[in-house]
Amino acid sequence: MTSTDKNRVVIFDTTLRDGEQSPGATMTHAEKLEIAELLDDMGVDIIEAGFPIASEGDFRAVAEIARRSKTSVICGLARAQLPDIDRCWEAVKQSERPRIHTFIGTSPLHRAIPNLDQDEMAERIEQTVTHARNLCDNVQWSPMDATRTEWDYLCRVVEIAIKAGATTINIPDTVGYTAPVESADLIRRLIETVPGADEIVFATHCHNDLGMATANALAAVEGGARQIECTINGLGERAGNTALEEVVMALKVRTDIMPYHTGVDTRKIMQISRRVATVSGFAVQFNKAIVGKNAFAHESGIHQDGMLKNAETFEIMRPEDVGLAASSLPLGKHSGRAALRAKLKELGTDVGDNQLKDIFVRFKDLADRKKDVYDEDILALVTATTEGSDALQLVNLKVVCGTAPAEASIEMEVDGKEHSATCAGDGPVDATFKAIRQVHPNKAKLQLYQVHAVTEGTDAQATVSVRLEEDGMISTGQSADTDTVVASAKAYIHALNRLIVRRGKTGKDVKEISYRDVT
Ligand code: KIV
Ligand code: ZN
Repeated sequence: MTSTDKNRVVIFDTTLRDGEQSPGATMTHAEKLEIAELLDDMGVDIIEAGFPIASEGDFRAVAEIARRSKTSVICGLARAQLPDIDRCWEAVKQSERPRIHTFIGTSPLHRAIPNLDQDEMAERIEQTVTHARNLCDNVQWSPMDATRTEWDYLCRVVEIAIKAGATTINIPDTVGYTAPVESADLIRRLIETVPGADEIVFATHCHNDLGMATANALAAVEGGARQIECTINGLGERAGNTALEEVVMALKVRTDIMPYHTGVDTRKIMQISRRVATVSGFAVQFNKAIVGKNAFAHESGIHQDGMLKNAETFEIMRPEDVGLAASSLPLGKHSGRAALRAKLKELGTDVGDNQLKDIFVRFKDLADRKKDVYDEDILALVTATTEGSDALQLVNLKVVCGTAPAEASIEMEVDGKEHSATCAGDGPVDATFKAIRQVHPNKAKLQLYQVHAVTEGTDAQATVSVRLEEDGMISTGQSADTDTVVASAKAYIHALNRLIVRRGKTGKDVKEISYRDVT
């Protein structure tokens, strides 16, 4: 990227910060490193790797991502407080290309939280941005809830931040309130009005509460913003953030009316979308733009006929452009380990020898029950095999169900010792979960239970996601099996195992501070 390239849009990914901080999307340390590596490899310019003061876990992740980054700038978030900024710097300075991102809520509602009047807040901004800039050459400042901040005050604080040394000014639409015309206009007027605005980069950070995050981000670019903040799959709390894949593909496909470009290798989109869905536990809706299962599926007869004659009849982009391989031949029970490894590679999943061994055992078991094992099946197996040495293990499950109340008998290993329980329930899944709770009593509340069929047919694997909440700690689990009840039991046990790990860390990896805790 050159500074003379006025049409280059910088992609700032905040999957690991704004995305991960949404309830239920918590990732493990290893998962965060993996996602950061994929973002770096796909050409994302800036990775917001976390909120270092939030917890020891966040700090360690940001520092490690900073150490490992190859080309991306590594950014950390900090509230407008000196200890936050110092902690953030300690983590990001491990990178060759560090950035500090500091913010404060500037709208009347947000100013009321720390109880600062306009002048006191202006002073705080001046002091904290100056402090950040003394530590780091690359400083981003955000007036949180900018789209509901009084115009005059917004101009005033943006000017202060620029004078104090901010090199990027981000304009967040924190509650997803703005609309495209307004989004473009806000950036355009800021650039025209604020002294020094032409010296820095304006960024746009949109939330999707009204379903306009992508449109608002693109409109902001029309208005002069040259950095888009976004997340993979639009992950983020409530309705999420601007989806990276949507803005990047929109800019690629519609260069005729939006003459801008990014540095993202779009062929890596599917791979990272799948990994983020898996590790966050937030499945991608089937009809989601770009990365949904149906985004490139043409079901109706007319469409299929048109597609066979000329793909452009109904396709504005090619599946290969987002990394969807043309459907390849399924594997079967005679396929060997080498074929499985090659298939995993083709699907963008690199696994170590031990994990390959595990996946192969599960693959053989599946191939015995299912004639054709498709790409989606293989990906589901990977999902179900990523974690190993767990306190709770399913040994055996027998369920009787039908018109009479269901009954589940379960055998489990708890820390290596066998336990069993039999429970009746309102259906097979309810009976199974009750039996698991009898073996491992816990007060975790079930927040989400979701089942998806991986492929078509009655022998299709089901992937099940379970989300649990206990004392503010959120844990998700996934599993896949041709038997929906077995997949459900495994997903529930997976979530419990993750909860046990988190409990054992005596709160260290639990979010102690949220970026919403503004003081
Ligand atoms: O939505 C928001 O305002 C944020 C800020 C911290 C930039 O995420
Ligand atoms: Zn946000």
